[in-house]
Amino acid sequence: MTSPIAHFNGELLALDRISISPLDRGFIFGDGVYEVIPVYEGVMLRAREHFERLQRSMDEIRLANPHSVERWVALAQELLAHHPGNQSLYIQVTRGAPAKRDHVMPQGLSPTVFMMCQPLVTPPREAIESGVACITAEDFRWTKCHIKSTSLLGNVLARQMSADAGATETILIRDGFLTEASSSNVFVVKDGVVAATPRDNLILMGITYDLLVRLAADGAVKLDVRRVAESELRAADEIWLSSSTKEVLAVTTIDGRPFGAGVPGPLFREVYAVYQKRKRA
Ligand SMILES: Cc1ncc(COP(=O)(O)O)c(C=O)c1O
Repeated sequence: MTSPIAHFNGELLALDRISISPLDRGFIFGDGVYEVIPVYEGVMLRAREHFERLQRSMDEIRLANPHSVERWVALAQELLAHHPGNQSLYIQVTRGAPAKRDHVMPQGLSPTVFMMCQPLVTPPREAIESGVACITAEDFRWTKCHIKSTSLLGNVLARQMSADAGATETILIRDGFLTEASSSNVFVVKDGVVAATPRDNLILMGITYDLLVRLAADGAVKLDVRRVAESELRAADEIWLSSSTKEVLAVTTIDGRPFGAGVPGPLFREVYAVYQKRKRA
């Protein structure tokens, strides 16, 4: 099988021809940031919003962005020309490869820029129609979760807990309040009102979250952005997950027990339909 084409520091190369220094700070320290953009039939969904979030992540870690949003979009399109159909576009920028290992940020280093595509695997029909299982756990990650950092060990450990339990996600609770899940945002519905957790340092501000908030605000759905207590999560009528690759999914099992009505709720079905329409627009 031929190796897929990827972008590496300004060049398009076969993935198996790309090599990165072991001194790269992405490898040594997880000192980098990333993005994942869903691509439907060659068209990126909310590309500008993703590259603006990349900029915010880079600002937070004091890494100079080598490209403008327009240039990023152009480079991404060059790569996508080699990957037709539905794709998940992965973008990573690290602080680069210095001559020695030192925690202090080296000056004058060129960042390492990498982009690749993988076929976009959207949730199977069964997950959309029947909902998915989640477990809950204490949020043991750091307090800069708004940075889309490649240092993902906390998220990896949390996600593995759900994988071990045969579940789709681990919903995280910090000090008695919902934050998000290991690789998704979480929405809670009670009496027809959707609660979304605040966009603070304890969650990643999801591009899908933002889109759902806008769609909800445009439609009949009442939306409340506020902290959600764990007890409210457990007593909710509906719980949804959102992410670029999961789109929006209903949770129907929590910690091994059926949740709510045991099937995706009416507001989920409404929002799911609007999302599908919007992504094709
Ligand atoms: C921790 C975390 N929260 C939320 C999200 C959802 O973000 P987005 O909708 O931009 O994919 C992700 C996506 O990977 C994530 O890793």
